[in-house]
Amino acid sequence: MKKIGIIGAMELEVETLKAHMTTTNITTKANMEFHEGTLNGTPVVIVRSGVGKVNAALCVQILADLFQVTAIINTGVAGSLNAALDIGDILISKDALHHDVDATIFGYKPGEVPQLGCREFLADEHLIEVAASTCQEVNPDIHVHTGRVVSGDQFISSKEVKDRLIKEFQGDCAEMEGASIAHGAYLNGIPFVIIRAISDKADDSAEMDYPTFEKAAALHSAKLVETMMPRI
Ligand code: ADE
Repeated sequence: MKKIGIIGAMELEVETLKAHMTTTNITTKANMEFHEGTLNGTPVVIVRSGVGKVNAALCVQILADLFQVTAIINTGVAGSLNAALDIGDILISKDALHHDVDATIFGYKPGEVPQLGCREFLADEHLIEVAASTCQEVNPDIHVHTGRVVSGDQFISSKEVKDRLIKEFQGDCAEMEGASIAHGAYLNGIPFVIIRAISDKADDSAEMDYPTFEKAAALHSAKLVETMMPRI
């Protein structure tokens, strides 16, 4: 039976989904609340992981071990690294990588975790397709793009860093959990997709734009995730 793990880093990113779900059980582990039940008729476990890569990785492992989820969706907001992606637009992950891993001294590519055999973690084709087609339907006025998520334990708010992430990693958006979720899903053999609405441009304007747009952006992403459920 399918059971979808849905992770948002912040309460804002999961509160609408939790309000819309039918909850049967709540389990607390590693300071995270795992809400089990159904969303739009589909078995789900919805959880706020907390911000950053460590929280995200722990969260995935708990979803795998305790709840045996069959797919993982990460919903939330991100900073745009692609001039074609404006605030409010949606990025669906083709793949994800860690922009803050550097073992280049040993011959690895920037972002590549040693001895893993891959740098980019590929999102699941079926989940990408369902997310993209549902997005057109749910948010017809919103531009949807499939591309690369780059993640690190940093809020990106300078043009210089943004330019480096584009040049070095060809990232389309920057956030702080996606690659860890992808990495954990890869290690556990669980299909995943990351869906992020753009809240800022990850440059010197990010500090101003983020608080203004994060709520609306998080809602775009959550609305899409809810509608996707029975189609997965
Ligand atoms: N989440 C939303 N905007 C972000 C940014 N600019 N950097 C990292 N994570 C983000």
